[in-house]
Amino acid sequence: MAGLIPRQFIDDLIARTDIVDLIDSRVKLKKAGKSYVACCPFHGEKSPSFHVSQDKQFYHCFGCGASGNVISFLMEYDRLDFVDTIEELASLYNLDVPREESNDNQKTAQQYSIEKQQKLDYYELMSQVSQFFIQQLKTNKNSEAVVEYLKNRGLSGEIAKRFGIGYSPDDWQVVLDKFCKVNGILNTQRQAQLLDTGVLIKNEKGRIYDRFRHRVIFPIRDRRGRVIGFGGRVIDDSTPKYLNSPETPIFHKGFELYGFFEAKQANRDLKRLLVVEGYMDVVALAQHGVSWAVASLGTSTTSEQIQLMFRNTSEIICCYDGDRAGRDAAWRTLQNSLPQLKDGRQIKFMFLPDGEDPDSMIRQLGEQEFVALVDQAMPLSQFLFDNLISQVEMDSEDGRSKLANLALPMVNSISDGVFQQMMKEKLAKYLGMEASSLERFIQAEPESPVKTKRKKASRGSIVRQAIGILVQHPNLAMTLDGMPRLDQIKLKGTELLQQLIDEVHQQPTINAAQLLERWRGKDEYNALLKLASWQHDVVDENLQSHFVDTIVQIINKHLELRLEQLAHKSRVEGLTSEERQEYAQLIANEQ
Ligand code: UTP
Ligand code: MN
Repeated sequence: MAGLIPRQFIDDLIARTDIVDLIDSRVKLKKAGKSYVACCPFHGEKSPSFHVSQDKQFYHCFGCGASGNVISFLMEYDRLDFVDTIEELASLYNLDVPREESNDNQKTAQQYSIEKQQKLDYYELMSQVSQFFIQQLKTNKNSEAVVEYLKNRGLSGEIAKRFGIGYSPDDWQVVLDKFCKVNGILNTQRQAQLLDTGVLIKNEKGRIYDRFRHRVIFPIRDRRGRVIGFGGRVIDDSTPKYLNSPETPIFHKGFELYGFFEAKQANRDLKRLLVVEGYMDVVALAQHGVSWAVASLGTSTTSEQIQLMFRNTSEIICCYDGDRAGRDAAWRTLQNSLPQLKDGRQIKFMFLPDGEDPDSMIRQLGEQEFVALVDQAMPLSQFLFDNLISQVEMDSEDGRSKLANLALPMVNSISDGVFQQMMKEKLAKYLGMEASSLERFIQAEPESPVKTKRKKASRGSIVRQAIGILVQHPNLAMTLDGMPRLDQIKLKGTELLQQLIDEVHQQPTINAAQLLERWRGKDEYNALLKLASWQHDVVDENLQSHFVDTIVQIINKHLELRLEQLAHKSRVEGLTSEERQEYAQLIANEQ
């Protein structure tokens, strides 16, 4: 097992890399005052609210809230996991990533790296389990029946192989036995890992067994081809028809697409991607030559999934049942996709006749005719206006005004450009006015939520303020010599504040991005991220005195609370002699 990546190495990488250069190589940045700005790469927008600070080595988007240091950026933008990000950064400097000596029994303080290491193990385990299911499809006593089932559904061995289709035996604990027991002795660590990845399941009574039993297995792969989850279908009429892996440390449904890796493998350039609902749909489409379909693993398609697709193609066609549920799901997808739309990107919608799905359709029609249907898919603009118009009465003034109110915010959320202009013109036409009058209407809209949000940035509790300033200017912690420790104080956040101070004392030259990195993967990380980008209004010259002042206020607040507490106790049950002394001291300090 590879050892952990030393903290020092990660710190050095952060220190060597200028976040402005790195981001600029992917998203063109413009200098604006103290920071650099661009239109946010993580959501569509017209005016830049993505800020990169050279001082703090942070980025922050005031629109969608994305923020972090150079490692976070690479993880998000290049969609890499932590270890790959470190490797990517190291490769910029021709460095090999060092590993600490690994020792299974020794837990180090780097809990986060341990988790990452576990992830590597999870991938390896999932790959082995997947191989086991594939092998079972050939060797199990039920093989014949299962293969027969797949053949009946029109699948060839070649396609089954391409998608890694397998079979999970009709048994409560074959996977458990095979992967967790050596000579009858249970490897509990391994068992815990298989529970974490959802391959095993524990019932209320604490019994642990195989999640997938007697099912056809569809491995779900991430964009790099690693197995991260499974879908399992029964081969008869029993229920539930499909079982899926739960959310796990390596599998997040809303971020993944079934068949995406296979589609990329089969097509050097993805001209377009067809989004369908089911595993079988993807596989059957591939069987008939449509190797560019993916399934969204849920009914509507999330904005993360849309982003992922648009990084690889410029056209997405979402295919749904023609029934109510299908239309609702399509509408949710449309809403999720608007902010992602910009010139050169297209989303279309395709509705199937009642009772059909892509699998049944392609089997009836064959590739050519099916693709002809895809070619005729409904453009987003048509679906959007048809749907809104069906909700209002277009022949009344009221109805048209309602349409404007429904449509404008949607049209406005599309990135500025030809496509948005076209949508505005369409809307104006429906409303029977010139697009230029609409323009006036749009400008009269209230301020965008982004700007309002920024104005409202409140100061929050005093502890939050102290943490915020400290995360942004770590060296201020060095001015606190001689102050009492704050983790004795029972106020929300004081423990974290003290931990931050301690980190800086251990490494006085630490910068904001390095300090933040210490918390990646921990509970407080998101809160810290927010505070790191919090716009305080303290001018640089006053920062130090302001910071010390907040700390003094925290201590005073604590003393105040303690005083109240002791006063209360003295009234209700009386004080011990120590408490009486403390009380007297506090009262003396008050005056
Ligand atoms: P469908 O019920 O439309 O099934 O569910 P299907 O994909 O056409 O499958 P076949 O043709 O009967 O084999 C669509 C998708 O919804 C999820 C699965 O992802 C499935 O592919 N689903 C469905 C479940 O997760 N659980 C279920 O019990 C049913
Ligand atoms: Mn089906």
